[in-house]
Amino acid sequence: MERLNESSIRSHLQDLNHLITFHLFDTIHSTNQFLKDQPQISGIQICCAEEQTQGRGRFGRTWHSPQGENIYCSIRLKLDNELSKLSGLSLVVSLAVIETLHEFINTSNPAERLMIKWPNDILWHRKKMSGCLIELVTAPQMNTEVVIGIGININSNTQLSTLLNTPWCSLFEITNQLYDRNIIIGRLIHHVYYHLRQFITHGLVYFAQRWKNVDQLDGQFISVSTPAGKISGYAKGIDEIGQLILMDNNNIQHHLSSGETTLHT
Ligand code: BTN
Repeated sequence: MERLNESSIRSHLQDLNHLITFHLFDTIHSTNQFLKDQPQISGIQICCAEEQTQGRGRFGRTWHSPQGENIYCSIRLKLDNELSKLSGLSLVVSLAVIETLHEFINTSNPAERLMIKWPNDILWHRKKMSGCLIELVTAPQMNTEVVIGIGININSNTQLSTLLNTPWCSLFEITNQLYDRNIIIGRLIHHVYYHLRQFITHGLVYFAQRWKNVDQLDGQFISVSTPAGKISGYAKGIDEIGQLILMDNNNIQHHLSSGETTLHT
C-alpha cells in the first residue's frame, strides 16, 4: 500500500499548492493537537499521519487510528468570519468529505449510498466511516484559527478488527478495493477549501439542498443527549444556522446546537 507522500498529495492539489505547508508523520499523538501547538503562519497548515497514538473523537472519545490504513488529516486555517456565524462549519466540512468520497464510489448504485448523521458522522448502512472534530486555536495577539480534524476509514478491513460499541465501516468494505490515500487527501483538501470559501461567501443556506439529500436523520424518531438531558422526537432537518430541529411528543420544536444522536428504528 502507498505510504503518505507530500509530492504525491501536492500533485492532486493544483492551484492550492502555494497556500499549503505540510507536516507528515509516521506516528503522532494527534494530528489536531500537533497543529494546535504550532505557531501561526500565513496560509494553510496540513498535518497527516500514518498512525495516531492518541487520536481524539468528539465527546472526549478515542479515534481508532491504526498504522498505514486510513486518513487522519487536520487542516489549520484562519477564517475571515465572525465566530457566531461558524456554527454550520462542521456540517459544511462533512459535505466536503462526502463529496470527496463520492469521487471514489459508484454514486448511482443505491447500495453504495453515503449519508450524514448530524452534525458530522458519515455513515454507510448506518455504520460510521468518517467523523470530524473542529477545535479553535486562540492565543493572545493572534487571530483565531480553526483546526479541522478529519478521520476517514479507507483501507481497514473491518472483518479483521473490532471496535467496542461502534458499528463502523471503511471505503474498502464498500467497494472491495484498496486506495492510494495521497489522492484522496489531495481531493479532500481541495473540497474542504472550496466548500469553506462558499460557506464564507454565501452562508449555510447555500448548502441547504445538499444537506437534505444526505440527511440520515430527517423524519426519523431519535434521541439526543444534550448537556441539559435527553430529548426524544422526530428530526425535522436543520435550521439556518445548522442546529438540529427536533419535534417532541407535545409538538414542541427544539433547536439543538450540539449533542449525541441515537436512531431508534
Ligand atoms: C468523531 O467523529 O468523534 C470525530 C473524529 C475525528 C478524528 C480525527 S483523525 C484526525 C484528527 N486528529 C484527531 O485527534 N482527531 C481528528
